[in-house]
Order: sequence, then C-alpha cells, then structure tokens
Amino acid sequence: MSTEIIMALIMNLLPLLFSVALVHSDQSILPLKSFKTSGNVTYDCIDIHKQPGLDHPLLKNHTIQMKPSASRLELKNQTSNNYVYKKKIGCPYGTVPVLRNSKEYIINTQYFHPLSRDRPGTHIAGVRSSNGPFRGIEAWSNGYALNIGKDQASYSQIYIGSGSNKEVNFIQAGFMINPSVFGDRRVWSYGFWQGKDGKGCYNTACPGFVQVSHEATLVQVFDPKPGVPVWLRCSIHQDKQTGNWWVTLLSKDSKPSLDIGYWPKELFNLLNNGANMVGVGGVVQASRSGSSPPLGTGKFPTVDLRESAIFTNIEALNSNYQRRKLDSFHIEKLLDSPNCYGLRLGQAQLFHRNQLGYFLNYGGPGGKSCGV
Ligand SMILES: *[C@@H]1O[C@H](CO)[C@@H](O)[C@H](O)[C@H]1NC(C)=O
Ligand SMILES: *[C@@H]1O[C@H](CO)[C@@H](O)[C@H](O)[C@H]1NC(C)=O
Ligand SMILES: *[C@@H]1O[C@H](CO)[C@@H](O)[C@H](O)[C@H]1NC(C)=O
Repeated sequence: MSTEIIMALIMNLLPLLFSVALVHSDQSILPLKSFKTSGNVTYDCIDIHKQPGLDHPLLKNHTIQMKPSASRLELKNQTSNNYVYKKKIGCPYGTVPVLRNSKEYIINTQYFHPLSRDRPGTHIAGVRSSNGPFRGIEAWSNGYALNIGKDQASYSQIYIGSGSNKEVNFIQAGFMINPSVFGDRRVWSYGFWQGKDGKGCYNTACPGFVQVSHEATLVQVFDPKPGVPVWLRCSIHQDKQTGNWWVTLLSKDSKPSLDIGYWPKELFNLLNNGANMVGVGGVVQASRSGSSPPLGTGKFPTVDLRESAIFTNIEALNSNYQRRKLDSFHIEKLLDSPNCYGLRLGQAQLFHRNQLGYFLNYGGPGGKSCGV
C-alpha cells in the first residue's frame, strides 16, 4: 500500500457527509421511548427495522444480522460488577437506541475541520500492521479528560482498513475529545467508517451502521475526573458467516461483552475478504493557529505503564479468524512528532493474569512546535 493511502486511512476522519448528516433527525420516526443518560445524552428507542442506519441505498435488500456468529470478547473470569454501563439504556425488545441527532450533537459538524493529509497539524502516535488480511482488531484502551481547545481534537482509536489505487475503506472506533463534533470537551466513545463511495461518517450521523444491541450504543459520553481513566475494550471484527463488520464493547470488569451492532459488508468494496491493515494509536488535530492538543494523559510515556494512556492486550484476528498478539505480525511504529508525543511498546500483564499482553503507551503535551 502506498504511503499516501496509509496516511489517508489513518488520518482521514473525513466526515464527508455533512450535507446529509442532518437528514435523519428524530422527527422522521416516532421513538417508542427515549432515554436521557446522566451525561444529558438522549437516545431514542427506534424499531430495529426502521432505524435510520438502514436507509443507506446499498442496504436496500439488507437482512439484519441479529447477533454475530461468534462473539469475539469472551473474558475469562471477571467477577466484579463495577459496571460502566450503569445507566443501561434498556430499550424495549424489538427497538434499538439511537443517539438523538439533535442540534446539540450534530450542528457542530458544520464547523468541523476534517483531519486530512491536506490539512496540516495532524499527528499520530501508534502502531500498525499491514500484513493482512486481518479479520479484526481488539484492545483494551483508556481515555482521560484533557484540556482540548475548541478547534482541536484528540483521539484514541483502533482501526481496520484496506486501500487500493487511492481508494480506501476503513472502520475505526475508540475515544475522542472533539468539541467541533460534540460541542463539548468530554470523552466520547465513537465509531467512524468510510465505504465504497468514499463516504462515511461518525456514529449514526449518516445511514450505514446497524444498531443491534437494545442496551448499549457505540456513542457514549464519559466524564472522567482529571487523571482518572475510563476503560473500554473494543473489538472490530468481520463476521465469519456474513462478512459484516461487528463492533463489540466491554468495559473494565464488566460482563458480558456487548455486541453493539455492525457495518454491513454491502458498504465496502475492499473489505470483503478481510482488511489489509490493522492498527491502534492516538491521533490529534492541531488548531488552525498551529497549536497541537495534548494526547493520552498529556504526558510522555514513562517506564511506569500506568502513568500514561495505553492500549493493551492488543490482538488481531488473522485470516483464519485466529486471535494473535499484534506483535506476532510484522508491525510498524508510527510517530511523526517526537518533540510533542511519545510512544512506548512492550509486553505487560495487565488483564490476563498469566499472560503477557502486547501494549502501547502513548501521549504527550502537544504545543506550538509539533511541526506540520
Ligand atoms: C443537563 O441539562 C440540564 C438542563 O439542560 C442542566 O441543568 C444540567 O446541568 C445538565 N447536566 C449535565 C451533567 O450536563
Ligand atoms: C436489491 O434486490 C433487487 C432485486 O434482486 C436488485 O435488483 C437490486 O440491485 C438490489 N439492490 C441492492 C442495493 O443490492
Ligand atoms: C475464576 O475465578 C475463581 C475465583 O476468583 C477461581 O476459583 C477459578 O479457578 C477461576 N476460573 C478460571 C477459569 O480462571
């Protein structure tokens, strides 16, 4: 794959669908019920077969897959009930929660500046493997409260993708602080995809993502206290039977894992037989004035892996759907602004007591001299 495509894949969080992002407001379909979470985020419970995600022209004949043929995240022996999804949404059976695309969440995308390779000020600290095909990627990661400027953004993401001749398909999921999209500086979990026509979007801002869980969504807001991480284990994997790309979330110490929903295979032309590339890492977007935001905890990684933001137990599914530590594949480090951000890779025992997991510490303060 050319560097150009790779850069596009990693950095192009192109929200190309600004124009249609507002089409599916809550007005068109009457919700059966609505929830406002403690973070003041409203979800509407919509008939699963009428959810706006299905309105994509490529999904005309789509049959909803009600659950993955194999759930990827079976955690061994988690007993604590310190459950992040305390405020379970709990839509009635047959309905799914859809973030209300009210002006609070979406209007700001009009001011959002896409991260693109044409746009200076994007920096990355991560690791990837281009030795596909891969059927998935998963990792634990944490997110921290950060002081992010109004026109800055800071992401921590896992992704899968394929490119050919300047065409790119990809899916990513993780945490972001992005005032331009959400209008606040809180930590949000999110998903983003780009499909066969070069289009895609965040979350459910445009049709494409099929929500299946009736109790948890991809988009949630977290309000961590400064210095206290929120944890999430996230998996993106291709279903063996259908070829759809599922996203599964698991919070620290929680059970069971939640198969949230999927991006149907119809949306993509380069991901039918897996993805060429998988990766994890942090990405930032500097403000127009050239000031780069903090990433991770805002500090460079130190030898103490708990001091900085982390991805750990990073595992990929190989072409035969076998789970392998990411470093069992050929990997590349990605760090383009070592003055401002750092990266540290290694093996640690964090979540599986008897097993070393592959981890990546990343982060840094940003600033005004991070380069372009
Ligand atoms: C939620 O919204 C209400 C009214 O809009 C406001 O008074 C309250 O402070 C908000 N709470 C949070 C946690 O943002
Ligand atoms: C849906 O099915 C019809 C009839 O088989 C076919 O003509 C059409 O191309 C299909 N549409 C899509 C988007 O697959
Ligand atoms: C699970 O944890 C319990 C107690 O914490 C222990 O007795 C049991 O052996 C564990 N099971 C596995 C499969 O690790």
